[in-house]
Amino acid sequence: MKFIVNNGGKLGGEIRVPGDKSISHRSIMFGAIAEGTSHIAGFLEGEDSLNTLRAFQAMGVAIDGPENGQVVIHGVGMRGLNRPAQPLNLGNSGTSMRLLAGLLSGQAFDVELTGDASLSKRPMERVTGPLQSMGADITTAAGGRPPLKLAGGRTLHAIDYALPMASAQVKSCVLLAGLYADGRTCVTEPATTRDHTERMLNAFGCSVEKSGATACLRGPATLTACDIDVPADISSAAFFIVGASIAEGSDIVLKHVGINPTRTGVLDILRLMGADIELLNRTEAGGEPVADIRVRSARLRGISVPKELVPLAIDEFPVIFVAAACAEGETVVTGAEELRVKESDRIQVMADGLQRLGVAARATPDGMIIQGGAINGGVVHSHDDHRIAMAFSMAALVANGPVIVEDCDNVNTSFPGYADLGATAGLAIQAEN
Ligand code: S3P
Repeated sequence: MKFIVNNGGKLGGEIRVPGDKSISHRSIMFGAIAEGTSHIAGFLEGEDSLNTLRAFQAMGVAIDGPENGQVVIHGVGMRGLNRPAQPLNLGNSGTSMRLLAGLLSGQAFDVELTGDASLSKRPMERVTGPLQSMGADITTAAGGRPPLKLAGGRTLHAIDYALPMASAQVKSCVLLAGLYADGRTCVTEPATTRDHTERMLNAFGCSVEKSGATACLRGPATLTACDIDVPADISSAAFFIVGASIAEGSDIVLKHVGINPTRTGVLDILRLMGADIELLNRTEAGGEPVADIRVRSARLRGISVPKELVPLAIDEFPVIFVAAACAEGETVVTGAEELRVKESDRIQVMADGLQRLGVAARATPDGMIIQGGAINGGVVHSHDDHRIAMAFSMAALVANGPVIVEDCDNVNTSFPGYADLGATAGLAIQAEN
């Protein structure tokens, strides 16, 4: 599937983007191993979170739905999962693989975790290392890549682990293994990353103590069923936030978006660039702060992105790079080397695509330097990366010709219905096979 996006237009109206991917994954995982029945609303019916859902069904968990974002999970308790008949294929989803590696390393059964071509290239030693030091029997294929093979029946020990990189997936993996380990497992992160695991474990009755950069829990733990209202995903809203900022005359409201402070780096970065962003109707949903986000177009200027904001906006860089291409002056991103090991090498793929559209963008080992200016129309490749595809589609709003984005099927991993919703909001987008 490709996107054909005519240039020009502006964004407006009130829209609700799909549910938060990180929270959707965790709601299935924790609901499955809790005692009792959990009701989830606003669940993301995208391929990534559906792969997590199917994995637990394959391990014998009864799950009703999803239907209009409603899911009912009949929890089986900490020890109630069964050995799946086949390897668990997690598709494109790094979050599924890394969090499941932790959750499954303390089970009684053997299990294998596989994924698609992109996931099969992603680094897994970052999770197998700490899990092995907890006593897990887990191995990777050559080069530390998937598939992961876990042998069951191991006794796990609590550890005190200092994360070598800012990664919520690795943090969560170790904490989930810690649920099955004897004693107090602690994880210390080098920079703040999303804290949905900690918040949701607390909601499921497992206390996670936070002290500075360290999060600890005591195992063996038990979880109690909990109802979760999943807010709209700020990472999906980000495309519209940037689109409305760069397209003159835009005025859009994004409804019920999660604004957890460990996820709002994109708002801070865009505000530093001069964006006009207002948070309305602030409230709470399932232990997470939520608001409507109103965005009006503004003249953006280039900035040096503060390093501490990078992990708080890690998934939003593809579209932040597009904002930088439209800003006056130079934008410099550093400390973002993690972008090279996402669904694609997001530094290289974005620099290549921006250059094809005539933007002066230069990839650096840990970021990019972009001179804002005019954007041409043209053909760019997403390299099967959902966020690259959506980011380039927004560039068409200000380009001087149509933008065609190839390989867009994986947009369904995080944002089913993107082209339709984009068109509703004013993007001249068509999805074509
Ligand atoms: C996620 C953590 C981030 C992010 C991913 C979702 C999570 O990955 O990029 O999309 O749900 O924990 P890293 O932990 O690898 O940075």
